[in-house]
Amino acid sequence: MPNLSTTYAKLNLRTPVIVASAGITGTVERLQRCEENGAGAVVTKSLFQKEVCRIAPTPRFKIVKHENTFTLYSYEQASEFDPQEYAEFIFKAKQKLSIPVIASINCYTDDAWIEYSKLMEQAGADAIELNLSCPHGVHIMSGMDVIEEMVHTTKLVKSNVKIPVIPKMTPQSTNPGSDALRLDQAGADGLVMFNRFTGLDIDIEKEAPILHGGYAGHGGPWAIMYGLRWISAVAPKVKCSISASGGAMNGEDVVKYILAGASAVQVCTTVILNGYGVINKINKYLEEYMERKGYYTIDDFKGKVCSKILDMDSVDRTHWAVAKIDKEKCTSCSKCFTVCIYDAIEKDNGKFRVNQNCDGCGLCAELCPVKAISMVKRGEV
Ligand SMILES: Cc1cc2nc3c(=O)[nH]c(=O)nc-3n(C[C@H](O)[C@H](O)[C@H](O)COP(=O)(O)O)c2cc1C
Repeated sequence: MPNLSTTYAKLNLRTPVIVASAGITGTVERLQRCEENGAGAVVTKSLFQKEVCRIAPTPRFKIVKHENTFTLYSYEQASEFDPQEYAEFIFKAKQKLSIPVIASINCYTDDAWIEYSKLMEQAGADAIELNLSCPHGVHIMSGMDVIEEMVHTTKLVKSNVKIPVIPKMTPQSTNPGSDALRLDQAGADGLVMFNRFTGLDIDIEKEAPILHGGYAGHGGPWAIMYGLRWISAVAPKVKCSISASGGAMNGEDVVKYILAGASAVQVCTTVILNGYGVINKINKYLEEYMERKGYYTIDDFKGKVCSKILDMDSVDRTHWAVAKIDKEKCTSCSKCFTVCIYDAIEKDNGKFRVNQNCDGCGLCAELCPVKAISMVKRGEV
């Protein structure tokens, strides 16, 4: 039987699946639902120093559909609790839960960072997540380069509490790789890679921003490749452990993040849209995957992809592939003809066929609605 346990930011988790900070972790009852449904840990909905953020506007969610994916566009800022209420919330959560409770805070003055983080430690939090990366928080909205502030805050909070300190990184940086190394050197016990982007959607009839009228958090399943890219680059280089966050919707996504080097994976959008039961489904998928692959522990496959990522000089650039159309399956829809910039698709008795101009790019095979096109070795056509 595979063992799903993992160590993240010096915390022992029964599974790598952590429920990320959001409304779904905003009350003790919701945290209990996370635990009952198999979460390895929870990160509580952020406590903000900026009081106005404690009152959320309505409505604050919009599903923005793109062709095969979507954005959960939302403006749900902070926990409604003040610092004292929040400390009581953490205290009660610690009495009711046996999994680690990570308290998330977002401040903009040194005094508040110190005060809030000490309060969280006294209330019994197992670790503190530093949320300077909120897509509609003070730091990102002011347009500042948050890395300097994050390094400073990580050192500051580290020197004031004994529990693990975990900066949550913004994806909005010119170099998340060097940001991660700097936070590791600053003493971070763990890193969350990443919070969401700040986005804007526009109602073209009203010619105004949708929802509350400002920028909002912009994330969804499409965000996973950004996280995979940076975690795979950072994981082999840092001492601290990494929790992925961004676009993990199911078990396959969680496996991908672990293969890229994450010790834990935070889930948020999928819990909001599919319910807490999705956590157990992910755990089950992980177990099945590990059994199928012969892995006993998460460490057996953690980071396995990192050494296989090629640099640009090592990429195989031989043009070995060409497209081949199965005439039986072809419906003559002409999609391949429309997208081929090499003029390699031509009509042959009402059906399409590939000529010698084919560059092997593979786009026609990707777009063929009836899967009539395959990529084969040049010369086999
Ligand atoms: C509605 C909503 C509220 C969120 N609130 C917080 C928050 O209070 N603090 C925080 O650090 N991240 C917050 N996040 C970000 C999530 O914790 C998570 O990092 C992000 O959504 C990416 O993960 P996902 O793709 O699984 O949703 C929120 C996200 C959503 C969708």
